[in-house]
Amino acid sequence: MAVVENFWSPEERQFFREKMNQASWKSLSDLPHVREDFPNSGNWAKADIGPEEGPRFLSRLQLPCIRDYIESFPNIIGRHVGFSYYSYAAGDCLLTHDDTDQGRVVQGRRAPQRRIAVVTYFHEEWQPDWGGELIIYERRTDRSGGQANLTPTHCIEPRPGSLVMFTVPRFHRVCRVDFTAGQHRRLSIAGWFMTEHD
Ligand SMILES: [Fe+2]
Repeated sequence: MAVVENFWSPEERQFFREKMNQASWKSLSDLPHVREDFPNSGNWAKADIGPEEGPRFLSRLQLPCIRDYIESFPNIIGRHVGFSYYSYAAGDCLLTHDDTDQGRVVQGRRAPQRRIAVVTYFHEEWQPDWGGELIIYERRTDRSGGQANLTPTHCIEPRPGSLVMFTVPRFHRVCRVDFTAGQHRRLSIAGWFMTEHD
């Protein structure tokens, strides 16, 4: 798990916020299959990253630590990325999950394996009372299986411009954004670096 504070300059954050303003957003209520995976999570919204900002985002993520980890897996036949914009308003959260989406067959091919999750924050301001923290868990070693055996190891505030990376699968959740946030939105880009194998 790694956190980089101030990964994005104020200018870069503003650039992505402007792009987010122009994006076409869909709320959980418009995405029934996503809502099935994430029940009771409020009504956060998701949007595709546009063609201008996608390459800009990825070029800044050309980090040796990411590259070396991805290349450490044997027999890779393809490398994939999947990132989206997310907007969480007061009342929105993401319940505990481990990002497992592995081995699913899509159109006769195994889906790429998610290897590194990245989440990075673009809002202008965030106060500690506003919630929206990312909680990362470890499984207790004395037992196996089940979310009841998780113990939190990290609580990461969504500081403007910071970037969080962790390897998956790993259980995590996003705390509900508090109503003290008012109209402020927790704006992020989140997704995965993935590998494809035969
Ligand atoms: Fe996740």
